[in-house]
Amino acid sequence: MLTASDRVKNVAFAGNRIIFEKAKELERAGRRIIHMEVGRPDFDSPESVKDAAIEAIKDGKVHYTSNYGLDELRDKIAKKLVDENKIEAGRENIIVTPGAMMALSTAIFGTIDTGDEVLIPSPYYSSFYKQVQLAGGKPVVVPTTVEDDYQLSRELLEEYYTDKTKLLVLNSPNNPTGAIQSRESLDEIAEFAKDKDIFVISDECYEKFLYQGEHISIGSLPGMKERTLTVNSTSKTYSMTGWRIGFLAGPEQFIKEMVKVPQNMTICPTSFAQYGSLQAYDLSDEIVNERLKVFRERRDIVVDKLNELDMVELVPPAGGLYAFPKFVDIGMDAIELCDYLLEEAGIAVVPGGDFGIGAENSVRIAFTCSTDEVREGMGNLVEAVKKL
Ligand SMILES: Cc1ncc(COP(=O)(O)O)c(C=O)c1O
Repeated sequence: MLTASDRVKNVAFAGNRIIFEKAKELERAGRRIIHMEVGRPDFDSPESVKDAAIEAIKDGKVHYTSNYGLDELRDKIAKKLVDENKIEAGRENIIVTPGAMMALSTAIFGTIDTGDEVLIPSPYYSSFYKQVQLAGGKPVVVPTTVEDDYQLSRELLEEYYTDKTKLLVLNSPNNPTGAIQSRESLDEIAEFAKDKDIFVISDECYEKFLYQGEHISIGSLPGMKERTLTVNSTSKTYSMTGWRIGFLAGPEQFIKEMVKVPQNMTICPTSFAQYGSLQAYDLSDEIVNERLKVFRERRDIVVDKLNELDMVELVPPAGGLYAFPKFVDIGMDAIELCDYLLEEAGIAVVPGGDFGIGAENSVRIAFTCSTDEVREGMGNLVEAVKKL
């Protein structure tokens, strides 16, 4: 009998997509639903970025590019890493990829062999876990807690380390918690990674979405550029999720090997989307900061509304686009709560189980819809939870 591979069968279907489909069904039946389940900023892509891509199409720049991406774009990304992230980089350190997602796959497939263990701090972006599964590795979840502000420590990492550990996946600011690893935590993580001689993937997709604290790239810390694989994209920063442009940055000797992953899976990112992204990296921070003001307002609404509820434990997000409240003693788990909120309050949010161990009573709320919708959705959520 024909079956799909165990590799794909063992991967759970994305929780946010399950909710998204349920919400769509209700909408088809005439219900109004406020979508706070998908991490897709509601802003449009910048006009000049669109113009650059349209120009590229008209100029016939419609063919394969190098497997590494366009040289001009690699140069621009390397400059961004030097200027903004204090990571030494040149063109030779960069692969342009279809979104951060393919940069993650390239880094994961490029570092681990079958059975190698990968430390994944929880709560986590579920694709980290699932990509490790697909690559034949063993995800090892390292739980961080509300009490510790979701900070990692060397002591905690040591508990989960074995001689099979090859890689640690870091994501700061974090999806779903919005936590930012402090300078002290990053120093401890860096010392741990160097002592144990393991790779670190640093997913920095939310680096520009900061409400408090600062973003430090672990690849900029002493001795870390030799083992850090930095991942980022234009998706969230410039509201370009549909363009599918991201990058992987790392030591040249690994980049040269790892490029075989996209070479044999995607060939290259879309040519004209790369030309648009060249323009995006030229934009001043003004447009990003304007939008950040709006996200900050939305984040504050979400936090204030959740604080009205006694049964909620919340570390207010220091960065990112999400809040991750835990609902204590409400007589239902997060899956039931999300169904209830969809039916009762017309708001779509994602159950925490998708984001790791210990998150079964948490839900992820994305503040990526309009500010009015955030206000209305959170009002409805609070009313509905009070009825429980
Ligand atoms: C932490 C994290 N990494 C990567 C991605 C995927 O980014 P991209 O759209 O650039 O592939 C997401 C999307 O939500 C994310 O939250």
